[in-house]
Amino acid sequence: MAYPYQIKTQADYEKAYKKSVEDPEGFWSAIADTFYWRKKWDKVLEWDFSGPDAPQVKWFQGARLNITENCLDRHLDTRGDQPAIIWEPNDPDEHHRVLTYKQLHQKVCIFSNALKNNGVKKGDRVCIYMGMVPELAIAVLACARIGAIHSVVFGGFSAKSIADRILDASADFVITCDGAYRGNKVIPLKSVVDDALVQCPDVKKVIVLTRTHTPVSMIKGRDVWWEDEIKKVETLGNPPCPAEEMDAEDTLYVLYTSGSTGKPKGVVHTTAGYMIYTAYTFVNVFNYQPGEVYFCTADIGWVTGHSYIVYGPLAAGAVSVMFEGVPTWPNAGRLWEIVDKHKVNTIYTAPTAIRSLMAHGLGFVEDKDLSSLRVLGSVGEPINEEAWHWFDEHIGKKRCPIVDTWWQTETGGILISPIATVTHTKPSYATLPLPGIQPAIMDEKGQEIPAPQKGEQVSGNLCIRFPWPGMLRSTWGDHERCRKTYFDAYPGKYFTGDGCLRDGDDGYYRITGRVDDVLNVSGHRIGTAEVENAINMHADVVESAVVGYPHDIKGQGVYAFVITEKEPDNPNLARKDILETVARIIGPIAKPDKIQFVKGLPKTRSGKIMRRILRKIAEGEMENLGDTTTLLDPGVVDDIKQGKL
Ligand code: WTA
Repeated sequence: MAYPYQIKTQADYEKAYKKSVEDPEGFWSAIADTFYWRKKWDKVLEWDFSGPDAPQVKWFQGARLNITENCLDRHLDTRGDQPAIIWEPNDPDEHHRVLTYKQLHQKVCIFSNALKNNGVKKGDRVCIYMGMVPELAIAVLACARIGAIHSVVFGGFSAKSIADRILDASADFVITCDGAYRGNKVIPLKSVVDDALVQCPDVKKVIVLTRTHTPVSMIKGRDVWWEDEIKKVETLGNPPCPAEEMDAEDTLYVLYTSGSTGKPKGVVHTTAGYMIYTAYTFVNVFNYQPGEVYFCTADIGWVTGHSYIVYGPLAAGAVSVMFEGVPTWPNAGRLWEIVDKHKVNTIYTAPTAIRSLMAHGLGFVEDKDLSSLRVLGSVGEPINEEAWHWFDEHIGKKRCPIVDTWWQTETGGILISPIATVTHTKPSYATLPLPGIQPAIMDEKGQEIPAPQKGEQVSGNLCIRFPWPGMLRSTWGDHERCRKTYFDAYPGKYFTGDGCLRDGDDGYYRITGRVDDVLNVSGHRIGTAEVENAINMHADVVESAVVGYPHDIKGQGVYAFVITEKEPDNPNLARKDILETVARIIGPIAKPDKIQFVKGLPKTRSGKIMRRILRKIAEGEMENLGDTTTLLDPGVVDDIKQGKL
């Protein structure tokens, strides 16, 4: 099967883009026609970005479907024996696993029945906290098959973060593993879940997969083993598990992400639009050809894994490689070894991974056969030119287009990106919007900045003016928060929270990073307010302020200015204590890279912390602090400058 909506030339792109603006309904319904529906839609699109209940967005109203029939069942006749997932374990000496579409379908059906046997019903929320094992993909798809709403929580989050997410979504079910392997570490997932569930008395069942044989405690009546539940279904002779018929706009999943306030939001994605958008972008951006091996190095705990390991590739019938471990273990050649071993055609990874591998030198690259590679992808943060060129020269051998894909948890799929083999690429530019996406660059006064002329560049805040099928529909349990966060700053437009620059010579977009109080640390979104809340939980801390600073490997590092009750006797010990607190409250990923103890924070007369000044100090730009005359006590700034780490 080729993909009727695949863009193959620049002329195709221009034609498709024009059609998508002039006749969006015609454009998207032609793509939707290539999917499997129980019943087709009555109306392609209804939307409102500016009313009091905004956003109101409905794609393919009236349509009935199940996303797993599109990701699994419809491939059985055409490519049932083709691998759907190739799983590469953490330890290179352990055997990899291949699940064909037939096998994956069967496993999903069995586990769907196991979920039903445990009382999971359509609409229920299921929290999934697992390592990168094939059963994670199976669990996600089984939820979708029976119409349960999954909420995957990344395995690096703490017990408290899990509890917050379970409570926010009122999830009654949890799926986890005894433990997870990550490099040379074993993470005791079940025991973290146990700690979380102390705060969640309503959780009815916990299903536990065996992976690491880490000892766990099983609570009678609540905790069951994955393997036992599967056996029960198999003893019944594997009854079929027909997919639940879902409405196009039924919620498929919730995924929590950090914003500028302290509390993560549950981004809500629905069924039909998300399915079409992830498949459409997957096939186009990577120029995917049937049968090719595609490897996304992300974790399914983040949106990249949802859209581009599970749903997009499987909806397109692709071969998707899933990797349990980390790029630097047992050595910095691991990703390239996987490319060589499985003859990977496309690798989709993050700038932070590229930078950390660069630092280990070419020795780990040169002994691998990378000739199978055809397309390279980058996601999660701006890719600096040095990393771009290293990726291009040493991995792609200058023959593979690099697609620098810009998107967000909220957008569901890629919005601005080159189309591999079609768009002329340019380092550090995400280039052009995909057909269907209408960006607008706004100035601080809320006015749209006109497109730049040749020889000119413009910059401002990036918005999107028209709906696309993969966009978020709400934030779980608090629709008003969704309106305020994304649709209030620029009425009638979706505000991305990112700054962007546009070059008039080619019309290309370059994403310059967050303009709100969100950090991007190793491609992970971390809210500064969240980290501050966590630091403030420490008994000795009075107040703190967290900002980002440029970090060679992580892109951005976390710099914390902390006021304690009394000056710490042993600052290093005090720092360790605070790190431990942050790891407990949020998870190790949010640990500050630098902690500076200070006596005061620069505040305005109205008591607002002036982060602009702290950011400059963290960046080392002491001479260039800007206007400090509005400060309540300008003296604190000198104190802080002197103590800079
Ligand atoms: C940033 C990850 C520059 C951006 C898919 C965005 C990028 C945030 C790029 C979303 C890119 C993602 N170039 N910046 N190619 N891709 N970002 O929700 O700041 O984890 O707002 O989604 O990452 O992060 P999230």
